[in-house]
Amino acid sequence: MTQAGSYNEYMAIAELYDYVVPYRERQDVGFFVEAAKESEGPVLELGCGTGRVLIPTARAGVEITGLDLSTDMLGICRKKLKTEPQEVQARVRLVEGDMRHFELAQKFLLVTLPFRPFQHLTTIDEQLACLGCIHNALAEGGRMILDVFNPSMEALTRTNFGEEMSEEPEFSLPDGRKVIRRHMVASRDVPNQINYVELIHYVSYPDGRKERLVQAFPMRYLFRFEAEHLLARAGFEVEQLYSDYDKKPYGAKYPGELIFVARKSKG
Ligand SMILES: C[S@@+](CC[C@H](N)C(=O)[O-])C[C@H]1O[C@@H](n2cnc3c(N)ncnc32)[C@H](O)[C@@H]1O
Repeated sequence: MTQAGSYNEYMAIAELYDYVVPYRERQDVGFFVEAAKESEGPVLELGCGTGRVLIPTARAGVEITGLDLSTDMLGICRKKLKTEPQEVQARVRLVEGDMRHFELAQKFLLVTLPFRPFQHLTTIDEQLACLGCIHNALAEGGRMILDVFNPSMEALTRTNFGEEMSEEPEFSLPDGRKVIRRHMVASRDVPNQINYVELIHYVSYPDGRKERLVQAFPMRYLFRFEAEHLLARAGFEVEQLYSDYDKKPYGAKYPGELIFVARKSKG
């Protein structure tokens, strides 16, 4: 199943997204908003989801298009946008589409993929198809920010497959539902560098009903030099590699993130 498929499987999963504590606490929004402002736009965000990054970017005065495969995630983004001032709404365009196969008439100065949607592409063909579409969507000299996790050696040697892990606090929804979320790696395809991840939501309703919702999806992990070679092959020059959204250089912390700022090569 693709990640977007998993977000469409239950509207309920998309409904929960904005309340999940580690998502609410991610420290990446300021980084992406700053990059969007510096680019002077227009910006294209691939896998924009519910607009966690897209809406603050539009609020900061930048014109932004969000593309996502999930009707449900986009539906929530649209609903949130309706509560924004008219001028913020006017800066946003939402497109339902696949980051592996898209063509937009507009050219962009920045393309971003916040919070790892690129890792739901599980083959090199899919990765290259996506990077080719990004190359095509960028104006000359435009940049891309590719954001993936840095696979830690310790995590890669864990073999606790199928074990539900819980480190997150319970969260509540406005309708009174309470949710505990656990996660697990169900299995790992080592030769293809894919973790089959499950997010398991234990939902309690105010009337006492209980529900267990599972969001299952593949995550391909990429190593630093693999990603650099991939970007070079797709016509990008890496300008910066950060390990964190406060722009710590790669290597300053471990495992940290792999945040590539890459410019479209000439020619
Ligand atoms: C973890 S969410 C990130 C959402 C948003 N960028 C954020 O930072 O909160 C991943 C998003 O990628 C979308 N997605 C996954 N595969 C996709 C594809 N092939 N094309 C477009 N969107 C995709 C999912 O529907 C989901 O909304």
